[in-house]
Amino acid sequence: MTIKKNIILAIETSCDETAASVYQDGVGIRSNVLFSQIDLHKNYGGVVPEIASRSHLEKIIPITRQALEAAEVSLDDVDVCAVTNGPGLPGSLLVGVCFTKAVVACLGKPIIGVNHLEAHVFSSCINQQVPFPHLCLSVSGGHTALYIVNAIGNYTVIGQTLDDAAGEALDKVAKLLQLPYPGGPIIEKLASAVNFQDFFSYPRSKLTTPDFSFSGLKTAVLYDLVKRGAYELTTQRLLPTATTAFKAQVASSLLVCLGDIFKDKLTLVYKNYPHIKAVTFVGGVACNQYLRNELNAWCTQRELLFIAPERKLCSDNAAMIAFVANYRAQQNLFDDLNLDLKIL
Ligand code: KG4
Ligand code: ZN
Repeated sequence: MTIKKNIILAIETSCDETAASVYQDGVGIRSNVLFSQIDLHKNYGGVVPEIASRSHLEKIIPITRQALEAAEVSLDDVDVCAVTNGPGLPGSLLVGVCFTKAVVACLGKPIIGVNHLEAHVFSSCINQQVPFPHLCLSVSGGHTALYIVNAIGNYTVIGQTLDDAAGEALDKVAKLLQLPYPGGPIIEKLASAVNFQDFFSYPRSKLTTPDFSFSGLKTAVLYDLVKRGAYELTTQRLLPTATTAFKAQVASSLLVCLGDIFKDKLTLVYKNYPHIKAVTFVGGVACNQYLRNELNAWCTQRELLFIAPERKLCSDNAAMIAFVANYRAQQNLFDDLNLDLKIL
């Protein structure tokens, strides 16, 4: 019996977005909808796992319905169901995985578990032709990594963060500055008001391997705030001297520092992979226009293509999950109802 594998329904619930997408082989994305939980978490300065899982439970059915409606297909038309099964928050992943298993158990359709990080890596290939081999810099709130990508589905990690992710550093500094979660967009806005200048020269990571480390940067910003009389360590309070103008200088210095770290890392890695044809920049932090411009300039100097997905495909979404599931399905690489979480 041949398995139909034309229409994929994908579900993503690894963190704080409940997302669903319908993808058609040979056609592309037919729908891509999500509910963002940002408003539920913003008073806490980060994602609260318990709140995240409960919200996924509430939204998973309506969001899936919306994705089917927007794609003008019914559940019966779906050939394969896919779901992110890691890495991510266990309670959040479980909602998506249990829901998808229930759907395929009822409909008797195949299931595919997708690695969230692989989905980010190939998000650049969804709507555009990306040459191989290329380097992929994937940066979000949960991870920061560099990959050498040889073909669709064929990739190797060549460097990753040893502690915090770069997005996490942005979110934590934003929290120190009493700015709302997530920190990235507001940090970009403040930094653009002072033209992305480097005011405070925060330390660039000294790592000479392709790995990253951002926890020291966050601490360096904290001690620099204290030194400038803007933060009181004993009470853990931001002081009134931290005006909006001052926060903009911190935000701008931080972004310039991150841009320098990324470019230095690419320079280091490029020596070992001189045959690459492009650099892709993916993940939520790749929404940042300043960082895109900096990496683009780095590539132009070396006559390399620079490719970043459109913003709604950079931050978490289910279209990237569907894209991976589609190339797996075309190779008949299915999972079954024993599908489990892969947290790490
Ligand atoms: O990929 P994503 O949506 O979720 C994770 O898998 O973590 O990434 C979220 C991260 C957050 O740290 C957020 O602050 C950051 O992406 N981010 C940005 C921007 N928009 C979102 N960072 C810098 N500039 C932005 N415009
Ligand atoms: Zn992500």
